[in-house]
Amino acid sequence: MPQPKVVLVTGASSGFGMETAELLSKQGFQVFGTSRRPSPRDGATFEMVELDVDSDDSVNKCVSGLVEKTGRVDVLVNNAGFVLTGGVEETSVGEAKAQFETNFFGAVRMVKAVLPIMRRQGSGQIVNVSSIAAFLPVPFEGYYAAAKAALLAYSESLRHEVKSFGVRVSVIEPGFFRTNLGNARRSASQPIHDYDRMRTKVIETLEDDISKGGDPKRVAETVLRIIQSRSPQLEYRVGKAGRYLVLKSILPTSTLESGIRRRWKLDT
Ligand SMILES: NC(=O)c1ccc[n+]([C@@H]2O[C@H](COP(=O)([O-])OP(=O)(O)OC[C@H]3O[C@@H](n4cnc5c(N)ncnc54)[C@H](OP(=O)(O)O)[C@@H]3O)[C@@H](O)[C@H]2O)c1
Repeated sequence: MPQPKVVLVTGASSGFGMETAELLSKQGFQVFGTSRRPSPRDGATFEMVELDVDSDDSVNKCVSGLVEKTGRVDVLVNNAGFVLTGGVEETSVGEAKAQFETNFFGAVRMVKAVLPIMRRQGSGQIVNVSSIAAFLPVPFEGYYAAAKAALLAYSESLRHEVKSFGVRVSVIEPGFFRTNLGNARRSASQPIHDYDRMRTKVIETLEDDISKGGDPKRVAETVLRIIQSRSPQLEYRVGKAGRYLVLKSILPTSTLESGIRRRWKLDT
């Protein structure tokens, strides 16, 4: 019997991560999910381990613990993340760095920890969860969009660098999905009154989009499709992300910009 592939999914306590870990374990993969505060869950189909992607120590402990148990890491799904809202001017450099620390450098730390193992194995797969915001940034989410765009660009470079070692890299760009992202949202702590009306409109629309968004199982199914693919692509758009990218490529810039301002109620 071949050994099942070992999969590590970061941020598996809710949302995409939990759905992905559940689906992959039902498909016969040996799945480890992570949380900063793992707790045993009734009927859980995968093992939960502790991980804070902001910490070098935590990342190294998580990956070395996994390798001690299983001897390998076949798939890493870099999914852990949160959303920071606030105007660019309202957000401190410290708050912006914290957004990058988790959403970009968190993935970087995980990749650096697993790559030596994957190169030694001569095989491996990395799936990074970016966002529609990487190519269609939302106002008052500028640093979130910047970190997701950075993750996309980084993944494209990495994909070329590790291909010859048998390691494949893909990026998922979901639209809006019903997860815990809105509840876990952080806000810039020094709001500027002039932005109040626009910021409030955007955040109301964003929370509405997430709560009425698609089923996060679709992202889990996309991860499965990527893992099962013989030649996975770089980018996978899920939900409305694909439609928005088509609009961006065909609409004149001025039409697109006024559509975005209308969409986020910036001028009402
Ligand atoms: N929902 C959407 O519409 C949407 C769209 C595009 C992209 N995304 C992206 O999808 C990914 C998953 O988000 P989600 O929507 O499923 O939201 P979610 O339900 O809030 O899940 C986020 C997960 O990230 C983990 N996490 C947060 N900070 C962490 C840290 N410092 N270290 C380790 N784990 C951390 C959380 O785990 P603990 O709190 O238990 O540690 C949680 O399991 C994120 O990268 C998000 O940006 C979401």
